[in-house]
Amino acid sequence: MIGLIVAYSKNRVIGNSGCIPWKIKGEQKRFKELTTGNVVIMGRRSYEEIGHPLPNRTTIVVSGTKNYDADNCITVKSLGEAVKIAGDRNVYISGGESLYKEALSIAEKMYITEIELEVEGDTYFPEFDEALFDKEINQHFDGDIPYTYVTYTRK
Ligand SMILES: NC(=O)c1ccc[n+]([C@@H]2O[C@H](COP(=O)([O-])OP(=O)(O)OC[C@H]3O[C@@H](n4cnc5c(N)ncnc54)[C@H](OP(=O)(O)O)[C@@H]3O)[C@@H](O)[C@H]2O)c1
Repeated sequence: MIGLIVAYSKNRVIGNSGCIPWKIKGEQKRFKELTTGNVVIMGRRSYEEIGHPLPNRTTIVVSGTKNYDADNCITVKSLGEAVKIAGDRNVYISGGESLYKEALSIAEKMYITEIELEVEGDTYFPEFDEALFDKEINQHFDGDIPYTYVTYTRK
């Protein structure tokens, strides 16, 4: 299964100055639940934001310039190479903008957290053709910044 996982605001922002521009306690719970034991693929800048391999899963970093090879962490030069190396394991493509753009055409499932916030940013989740997917609304959370887990499955 090739999955994509992202949280974006009402104006499709995913990041600002290398960081995620909101902090909502518990919002990343689904990310942890889905990706644990599986493979996470991310671009070099997103990896640098985290700064270390994620525990209990394999991290594949896509970079043309750097190498982050460590226990359960390898670096490859393209998204295609990352998917190939993952083989038949479940993969979750987890940003940032450049990787999402490429991943839109191959993702079978998109696990999206819709953040109910208009926020300033410099990186965005690309527009996509919703008609190509079935949308399921999974869970809504109220709070200072409400958010909703949704899943898009390719038809
Ligand atoms: N809200 C969310 O769910 C979420 C999730 C993840 C990240 N983010 C945010 O997104 C922002 C980072 O996104 P970004 O688009 O700037 O960076 P990014 O996609 O994380 O990383 C970009 C880098 O990845 C490498 N790369 C990407 N595609 C490649 C390809 N096809 N071939 C070779 N290398 C490739 C390149 O590294 P080299 O320059 O080393 O070649 C490129 O500079 C941050 O603000 C982060 O907080 C948000």
